[in-house]
Amino acid sequence: MPQKILTVEDYRARAKRRLPRVAFDFIDGGAESEKTMRDNRGAFDEVILRPRNGTQVGVPDLRTKVLDLELSMPVIVAPCGMARVVHPDGDLAAVRAAGKAGTVFTLSTMSGHSIEEVAAAATGPRWYQVYNVGGRGRVEHAVARAASAGYSALVVTLDTQVSAGRLRDARNGTAVLLGPNKFAALRFTPQLLKNPMWMARRMADGLVPRVPNVLQDDGTPEYLWKKVRPYSLAWEDLSWLRAQWGGEVLVKGVLTREDAARAVEEGVDGVIVSNHGGRQLDSVQATLRALPEVAAAVDGRCEVLLDGGIRRGNDVIKAIGLGAKAVLIGRPWMYALAAAGQAGIEHVLEILRAELVRDLQLMGCASISDVDRRSVQAPAAWFDQLG
Ligand code: FNR
Repeated sequence: MPQKILTVEDYRARAKRRLPRVAFDFIDGGAESEKTMRDNRGAFDEVILRPRNGTQVGVPDLRTKVLDLELSMPVIVAPCGMARVVHPDGDLAAVRAAGKAGTVFTLSTMSGHSIEEVAAAATGPRWYQVYNVGGRGRVEHAVARAASAGYSALVVTLDTQVSAGRLRDARNGTAVLLGPNKFAALRFTPQLLKNPMWMARRMADGLVPRVPNVLQDDGTPEYLWKKVRPYSLAWEDLSWLRAQWGGEVLVKGVLTREDAARAVEEGVDGVIVSNHGGRQLDSVQATLRALPEVAAAVDGRCEVLLDGGIRRGNDVIKAIGLGAKAVLIGRPWMYALAAAGQAGIEHVLEILRAELVRDLQLMGCASISDVDRRSVQAPAAWFDQLG
């Protein structure tokens, strides 16, 4: 009898059982020694909540506004490439779940589903995450598609200058599994025999991953990996990008006051304090620790969001207390997708919502907007970089 799922971590455990190692490690792993990935979680343990006891607040109001969108709670679905390899419903499951939960879904350039398919499945707001794959012409094309399919903001990821050193993937041969050779999967036969359901779904879904948001010259979707490498755009590209795109722009991967100041100077609508879930440069600051520095540098001039290590409602309160308007979740929805498809993602969002409600009641907060700097206590060293 599998353990009852009560937390996001329970979904991780179930995903570990349901996926072959090569696929689980692709989601779960980080870069190099995985220090930053672990530290993203560790930072939450260093922050203490400061409740105001002796009050009954009823059911707290979780609604918040991010850019000009009304969200039912301050939790957004982060862009994660290759969700379709985890489960054939991939980003379609995620956009539907986000819509039901009343929040935003962010579609990765590296999705196995197209901008248009995801828009057709959406019932709520959606953002499109931009990588440079194959040059400006292809980016322009994808951005025009996102505009006509009703995506309201671009999320420009800045921390993927080159591919990271993901050692689990290198050891497991993930690139072979995701590459264009159909028979390459044979190499993984022992793992796959233990996970026949996953393999059967992959076979039914065509085995060779494609990236329909990046088109080849003949208009068909690009193949993944060997030919298609995602890279970040640079600050210098932002004015060109804005000339193509009339909507809002957020930059993802801001960890320092210098980059926060540059983002404000560039006139972006929001920054996402992110280290890619510890999947890019190892040994950078945990996002929660970087948040006070970035929030102080932004000083209310654009929206501040955070991702990395959010696993509980409690974590959301800590991030908001230290200056974020809302958070994004990456691995939590990928684990849930692997374990239970769309229903799993819906459940993960409801787990976070229920935890947030309970913890705000225990904090004495009638609304998420009551959470502020006085709600949390963080180590003094986190504020050293503010000057
Ligand atoms: C990611 N992330 C990511 N980010 C991005 O900008 N474009 C992308 O295509 C991807 N792809 C991707 C795949 C997988 C499998 C994971 C786990 C993550 C990073 C993601 O948007 C987010 O920054 C982190 O996942 C947040 O950390 P947590 O919530 O996973 O701890």
